[in-house]
Amino acid sequence: MIEEHEIVKEIHYFEKPGKENTNKTLELAVKRAEELGIKYIVVASSTGETARKLIDLLQGKKITPVVVTYHRGFYREGEDSMDSETEKMIRERAIFVRQSHILSGLERSISRKIGGASRTEAIAEALRALFGHGLKVCVEITIMAADSGTIPIEEVIAIGGRSRGADTAVVIRPAHMNNFFDMQIREIICMPREKR
Ligand SMILES: Cc1cc2nc3c(=O)[nH]c(=O)nc-3n(C[C@H](O)[C@H](O)[C@H](O)COP(=O)(O)O)c2cc1C
Repeated sequence: MIEEHEIVKEIHYFEKPGKENTNKTLELAVKRAEELGIKYIVVASSTGETARKLIDLLQGKKITPVVVTYHRGFYREGEDSMDSETEKMIRERAIFVRQSHILSGLERSISRKIGGASRTEAIAEALRALFGHGLKVCVEITIMAADSGTIPIEEVIAIGGRSRGADTAVVIRPAHMNNFFDMQIREIICMPREKR
């Protein structure tokens, strides 16, 4: 028997992480957003491909897509991960965020140069190892969206994946980077069972 203070919901598990789970992840995320009356879906997108799919799914719905992409120079100095045509299309149809990565930050330069790892990188690695890359990305892009002022501090859905595409979606209460421990993952919508 389900008590008044309990909620029973489905979690969709993919066998393995990766891009092949993208369409299902996006569908499930949009469905949950509609059920909960969530107004923003935050998605990670490097080339714009996953962002485009989400934007198309949200066409005509009262849910705003927020697309978070790699910081300039992630792959090569002075270069973006997304071509300018795609970026223009996304800016016309969604909120676009490009900024420094919260879960690596300046510390990445220091660990690359002199070794070791920062506490921030340890948090990122723990999230990746225990819950998968996609969930670590959900946490990171939600802070980036909150810090850039593009989402309010109220429940949103975040979507991430491993390298390309999407395989994880969560309902998340955002937080800013100076209040990380105020963040709460309220619901897991889908995730891969195997993390690597
Ligand atoms: C800020 C940011 C951080 C990311 N960090 C990781 C990561 O730690 N591990 C990983 O496998 N993918 C990471 N990604 C990739 C995303 O999870 C996602 O799979 C990808 O951006 C989708 O790009 P696409 O639109 O080209 O398919 C990151 C993406 C962004 C924008």
